[in-house]
Amino acid sequence: MKILVIGSGGREHALAWALFNNGANTILVNPGNPGTAEFAQNINGDPVEIAVDESVDLVVVGPEAPLVNGIAGKLSEKNIPCFGPSADCARLEGSKWFAKEVMNAARVPTATGKKFTGPIAAIDYMGQYPDKFVIKADGLAAGKGVYLPKSKKESDVIIDDLFKGSLGDAGTSVVIEQRLEGREVSVLAVCNGTDAVILPASRDHKRAYDADMGPNTGGMGAVCPPADVPYDFPDYVKEKVILPVLKVMKDNGMEYRGVLYAGLIITQFGPFVLEFNVRFGDPETQAVLPMIESDLAELFLAAAKGQELPPVSIREGASACIVLASGGYPGGYTKGYEITGYKDIDSLVFHAGTSQVDGAIVTSGGRVMGITALGEDLDEAIEKAYKDAVLVNFEGKHMRMDIGRTV
Ligand code: GLY
Repeated sequence: MKILVIGSGGREHALAWALFNNGANTILVNPGNPGTAEFAQNINGDPVEIAVDESVDLVVVGPEAPLVNGIAGKLSEKNIPCFGPSADCARLEGSKWFAKEVMNAARVPTATGKKFTGPIAAIDYMGQYPDKFVIKADGLAAGKGVYLPKSKKESDVIIDDLFKGSLGDAGTSVVIEQRLEGREVSVLAVCNGTDAVILPASRDHKRAYDADMGPNTGGMGAVCPPADVPYDFPDYVKEKVILPVLKVMKDNGMEYRGVLYAGLIITQFGPFVLEFNVRFGDPETQAVLPMIESDLAELFLAAAKGQELPPVSIREGASACIVLASGGYPGGYTKGYEITGYKDIDSLVFHAGTSQVDGAIVTSGGRVMGITALGEDLDEAIEKAYKDAVLVNFEGKHMRMDIGRTV
């Protein structure tokens, strides 16, 4: 199969790698990165035009923005299968309130919440206890729209800023919901509109520093499956979350075809859904896909066409991905440092923020690379990944040392 993967990060490197490694597929990546260039053709330009010009059999969309902006519909007009949902379906990520309404209709366990279009009612709703609530910008905010205020003073400022446009249109309406405590787990479901194949559960680590301290990042590492998650958890999520959501969507004229990422929290009252994303997680993908033995192209194509989904074969054991970040990330950081040592290690290397300059690979983003290792169990995977992660060097390199060890 000839497949176009859209995106340029570690997630897209892992997608392209899995599609290349597990099947007889030719891979194009738009625009790709120096890692994907090692086995695929990186190609710049408009993705729909590329898909048409190159007569690809399937397009796999990495990031959420093209999906929310309707790339699946544009490809459908050209009769090109797209693994990624329509713009209507992508509202499950594009609007927190839409997702909440679908979850309520599907009777999916989720925190109670309310939507607000102005600051006074929102501030009044939280009263003197904002630390019991989560504030979410309703729209897409590139991972920046979720707040856990510690005080009334802090929550008043957050609400005020959002309605004044701190996140642009994403914050013109705001969802406030009950705060839940527990262990977070990510579940990726490959959906064909009515049915789903659930990939092994994973967990990412969002804070910048060890012991879950410091600012939120895009993700500093991931493990698959987390040691504390029951082996039948993916089946539970399929029955209680994914299939009911697919049914509500279909009953309302929206067939969800693509990956549906359920961000869950396991509380003392059971699992609750925190959020949906309409794309693969990053860096969860870099931990989950190396655990899959099957040709994902067959699975993604069947999902894109609304056909019966083939089963996937999952490896025994576990995997761990350690993200190497630029010093200072997620705040300001300097780019352009040469990266060495990554070619001599046994682990998988997924490029994220890298560029090729005069024959050298240099840092060009906050999250630079993911180092993924497989093991017979999670302890072994983590140990192997760290053994290799320390051998990769660039100035200012930062990584967490407790990936897979905290929840
Ligand atoms: N790892 C979190 C996300 O991809 O949204």
